[in-house]
Amino acid sequence: MTEDFRIRFLIVDDQQSIRKLCMTIGASLGFVCAEAESAEDALVYLEASAADIVLVDLKMANMGGLEVLGTLKKMLPRTEVAIMTGYGSVETAVQAMRLGAYDYITKPFRVEEMKLVLQRMAEKVRLVAENQFLLEQVRTQMELNGIVGSSARIQDVLRMVARLKDTRTPVLITGESGTGKELVARAIHFGGVYAKRPFVAVDCGSLVPTLIESELFGYEKGAFTGAVRTKAGLFQHADGGTIFLDEIGELPMEMQAKLLRVLQEKEVRPVGSNQKVRVDVRVLAATNRDLEAAYKAGTFRKDLYFRLNVVTLHLAALRERKSDIPTLVRWFLGRIAPNRGLQVSNAAMNCLLNYEWPGNVRELENCIERAVALGGDAMVIDVDDLPPSIQGAATIGPGARVPAISAGVSNAAEGEPSMDLVAMERATIQRVFDQVGGDKTLARQILGISRATLYRKIKLYNIRIGQQAAAVSSTS
Ligand SMILES: Nc1ncnc2c1ncn2[C@@H]1O[C@H](COP(=O)(O)OP(=O)(O)OP(=O)(O)O)[C@@H](O)[C@H]1O
Ligand SMILES: [Mg+2]
Repeated sequence: MTEDFRIRFLIVDDQQSIRKLCMTIGASLGFVCAEAESAEDALVYLEASAADIVLVDLKMANMGGLEVLGTLKKMLPRTEVAIMTGYGSVETAVQAMRLGAYDYITKPFRVEEMKLVLQRMAEKVRLVAENQFLLEQVRTQMELNGIVGSSARIQDVLRMVARLKDTRTPVLITGESGTGKELVARAIHFGGVYAKRPFVAVDCGSLVPTLIESELFGYEKGAFTGAVRTKAGLFQHADGGTIFLDEIGELPMEMQAKLLRVLQEKEVRPVGSNQKVRVDVRVLAATNRDLEAAYKAGTFRKDLYFRLNVVTLHLAALRERKSDIPTLVRWFLGRIAPNRGLQVSNAAMNCLLNYEWPGNVRELENCIERAVALGGDAMVIDVDDLPPSIQGAATIGPGARVPAISAGVSNAAEGEPSMDLVAMERATIQRVFDQVGGDKTLARQILGISRATLYRKIKLYNIRIGQQAAAVSSTS
């Protein structure tokens, strides 16, 4: 999106020569440029056409730069404004920054200097727009397929799902029980162009071994006792669409060979029939076993493994992506108790974050369901509403070993935050800083915290800040 996103730039100055120079600089940076010779003209212009970046002279007749700045920030909060001053007064500049100016530049300026300021502003505008775009994209995807989570690992999964949904590529989905393998398989099928075709889920683990073949490929009338009429198998039912082979690791060796043949030849032979039937089926397989180890140990066919595993999509255990827990909890609450505005107390959230979740997302979902049922009319889910094993996590989990670092952020009324929370907060703040290239104002906006809190956390967590950014923010 960056390529077709052209920055709209407005220069406001009563000196024609300055306007001309700035327009040239703006054009050289690829901006769409416009000029106004007074503050009043600028506001009239901005009523009709928006600008991403505005450069305003501080001293103009009638309305000065500071006034324009105030009005503009209210009118177009996303527009970035820089002030030009011929007087070099630091106080006015500071006042401008306080009113929301991005930066200031003193006249006379060097072209390179002006270029740098404009470039940095453009970068920020693009970053904010891109962030917004990504957030919306992720949100749309989340809403579409019900895969919730903000951790990098879930974001990777969402990206993979988006890439695979319109293809016929076989995908092997791996992950512990309850990590969302079936959810992802459904998202791949129902999110893409084949959504209207059939989706057939087969639990290979629960098929009766002697009946697997007839279940999958169908049978002819009279093929065996009880086969009173010809019956199509699951593969025929899935024709044109997707077959989801869940727990593929449970498939007996003999069936593995038959499945491989079907995948290679794209046809099935119903039990008791001489005729083969063509099927066009996309195969998604899932397992919570380590199939690589299984084929190395000789319990799973290597050739089938490679045929199924053209793409692997691994779902991390919930304990490896605990930052998804608050989002998932909110999501489940919204689904289980819509419109009730239920909250989770800090202490209860602490327990949820400290617990190891052997049953992964399914266990979390059950836990929230149980808490809502037990909580009756209460508006807040508290520790007492959680199962005893999870309540215990607050004291016996890794969170119990809270090191001295958390003392600085602890809130006596809420108890000490756990190590996970501390580590997560630190990582989040660092990540945002890296993303915004050290821009404190932008970081603060993205994180949604006050300036004072931000400064406190930077110090507490020893956050790395880009060199260039540090120099600029020292004036803010
Ligand atoms: N990222 C997620 N966002 C929202 N819900 C999720 C997520 N992951 C899993 N769930 C929910 O958790 C439950 C378990 O998911 P699913 O059945 O897909 O897991 P699974 O990996 O197939 O488990 P198993 O190996 O036991 O079959 C489902 O109710 C599913 O909707
Ligand atoms: Mg499953």
